[in-house]
Amino acid sequence: MSHRTMEAHYRPNWELTQAHGLNAYNCGYAETPGVGTFDEHQQALVWRLLGDVDIRPDSTVLDVGCGIGGPIGWMAERYRLRRAIGLEYCQSSAQAAEERYRHQEHRPSFLQGDAHCLPLADASADVIFNLESALHYANKQAFLSECRRVLRPGGTLCLGDITTRTKVMFAPIQWLNLLPVQFNCNIHLWSDEDYLEAFEANGLQVLRHEEASRSVAHALLDGLREMARISWLSSSGFRRRRLLLAILQHRFQAAELTYDLFAVRKS
Ligand SMILES: C[S@@+](CC[C@H](N)C(=O)[O-])C[C@H]1O[C@@H](n2cnc3c(N)ncnc32)[C@H](O)[C@@H]1O
Repeated sequence: MSHRTMEAHYRPNWELTQAHGLNAYNCGYAETPGVGTFDEHQQALVWRLLGDVDIRPDSTVLDVGCGIGGPIGWMAERYRLRRAIGLEYCQSSAQAAEERYRHQEHRPSFLQGDAHCLPLADASADVIFNLESALHYANKQAFLSECRRVLRPGGTLCLGDITTRTKVMFAPIQWLNLLPVQFNCNIHLWSDEDYLEAFEANGLQVLRHEEASRSVAHALLDGLREMARISWLSSSGFRRRRLLLAILQHRFQAAELTYDLFAVRKS
């Protein structure tokens, strides 16, 4: 993964979200299709992943792979957080996130950096939030070991990711990872079992695990229907991005891709 290939993948996403007034890059969560907007679905996925995790105004919450900042901004607002940090690999997304919350009272801080090497001190975070970002990490073991280092004892990692039990089917796509084009997905998919084993190996105790593919597929379908109402000329890369989301939605429906939500605690 390079900054060039990752920017090439996410730049059209930025244009799509701007054209549509969205604040996040995730697939969303909807128990029933056709109820609510895609923006609401994206927020619903954030609250679903957090579940009943104890977050207070003095908690330190780190969102790794925060994208354009929607989720960490919503958390900062809801919990009145004094220390909310968004970490993002793409400089353009980190900047967009910074801009977005410039005038908000409970404003997160944003850093450009890499999930493989978290720029926080040992035992300094109460909650690490990681939504639909780890699919891009070439070394998820390194990321989980960093989470263990940075979490306080008793702290929680909330991780939601696209997974698959048929990794062999998606292996050829990894060749695209080398190209600076929109269709390089920069993906390195794990299965839910890979995650469960790795949590155990890193001393992270599973508190909750939900397989959420059905609700994610509903949300994406609603999102695609909304996007169909925007002019195709509104941004470059727009049609291809929609095509990519449509492919994703079909793979969830066909159960070739799955979406798992985990909450794990450092003992
Ligand atoms: C699908 S988006 C999800 C963004 C955000 N979590 C949300 O829900 O809106 C994945 C994000 O992970 C970021 N990312 C990928 N690899 C990363 C890394 N090694 N370190 C930090 N962020 C990374 C991408 O740049 C992208 O913004």
